Formats: sequence, structure tokens, C-alpha cells
Amino acid sequence: MEAKTPKESLTILTDLVLPGETNYLDNLFGGELLARMDRACSIAARRHSSRIVVTASVNHVAFNKSVPVGSVVTLEAKVSRAFKSSMEIYVDVWIEDRQSGLKTKVNEGIYTFVAVDETGKPVDIPKIKPETELEKIRFDGALRRKQLSLVIAGKMKADDATELKALFKF
Ligand SMILES: CC(C)(COP(=O)(O)OP(=O)(O)OC[C@H]1O[C@@H](n2cnc3c(N)ncnc32)[C@H](O)[C@@H]1OP(=O)(O)O)[C@@H](O)C(=O)NCCC(=O)NCCS
Repeated sequence: MEAKTPKESLTILTDLVLPGETNYLDNLFGGELLARMDRACSIAARRHSSRIVVTASVNHVAFNKSVPVGSVVTLEAKVSRAFKSSMEIYVDVWIEDRQSGLKTKVNEGIYTFVAVDETGKPVDIPKIKPETELEKIRFDGALRRKQLSLVIAGKMKADDATELKALFKF
């Protein structure tokens, strides 16, 4: 299988924040943003693998800034690293100023998707070749984030998480 680049999986979703999607402070409800992130990451994972994909884990979400009702929100998702059947996807969330059009990054998330066949069995996927500096940084950190996610899920012994342990060696 030929390797692909992160930009081949780039998925951009732009949408409004409507009143029914907000919390008591009239900001975007966290669960609504998670669903939008999941959707964008799912499309990116499908574009990379050309297979059916399922969410395996949400590794990290930072709700750094609130997103007011009426905002135009753009999510940009890209596969940062592909393993055997699983992929890490980064999703960056931006809002734009109505008058200047300037974009501010408000949130980000890191999801793991697995490519599966029609019976739900994991299948092999193409590798990925990062191109930009940011893509390379995200690629380099992906294995330790995978190990952390597997340790937390009880699917890997902490002792076997070599990449993760290396972080704590001085
Ligand atoms: C995700 C799923 C396919 C994994 O199946 P599994 O039997 O654990 O399969 P495996 O152990 O072979 O793991 C498959 C891959 O997923 C990775 N994986 C599984 N759980 C993971 C987790 N919590 N974090 C990171 N990666 C994970 C494995 O490391 C493996 O990666 P690799 O093939 O790239 O090395 C299965 O658990 C599933 O179908 N879950 C439900 C998915 C779903 O319905 N999502 C929507 C939720 S509403």
C-alpha cells in the first residue's frame, strides 16, 4: 500500500452555532463540539484509509476558549499518523471575526479511529508521510499518545509503553 500525506485526508467543516446548540451561558455546548469533531475526524480517517472507520478513543480535547452563539466555527481535521489499522487524527477548531474575517484558534482534539471491514474486523491501512513542520511534530508524538491511550484503556501494560516511559528518563 502506497504511503499518503496528511493533506490528502484534510477535512474542513464550517458551520454556525445556533441557539439550540448552546449551554446556559449561550456558548457552544461541549457535547455538540465533540460530535462535530468526531464527524470531521471520521471523514479524515475515511479519506486516508478508504475504508469503514470507527472511533476507538478520544485521546484529548482542550476546551480552551468558549464559542459564543452565532459564531462561524471551522474544524480542520487531518490524520497525523497511521499505524497498522489505527490512525491518530488531530482536529483544530477556529472561529472567525465577523468584520475582519480573522481566525482565532479556540479548541483542539486528538482522536483515534480504526479502519475495519464489513464485519468490524480491523484492517491494514496506508502509512503516512508528514510534510510540514507541524505535521512532523504531531507524527513524532503520536506513538507515545497511542501508548498512553492503550495504557489508560487497560489494553497495554505500563511497562511495555517504551515510548511513554522514555519521556520520564533523565
Ligand atoms: C475499535 C475496535 C475496532 C478495536 O478492536 P479491537 O478488538 O480492540 O482490535 P485490536 O486490539 O486489534 O486493535 C485495533 C487497533 O486499534 C488500536 N486501539 C484499540 N483501542 C485503542 C485505544 N483505546 N486507544 C488507541 N488505540 C486503540 C489498537 O492499538 C490497534 O491499532 P493498530 O492495528 O494500528 O496497531 C473495537 O473496539 C470497536 O469496534 N469498538 C467500537 C467502535 C465504535 O463503535 N465507536 C463508536 C462509539 S459510539
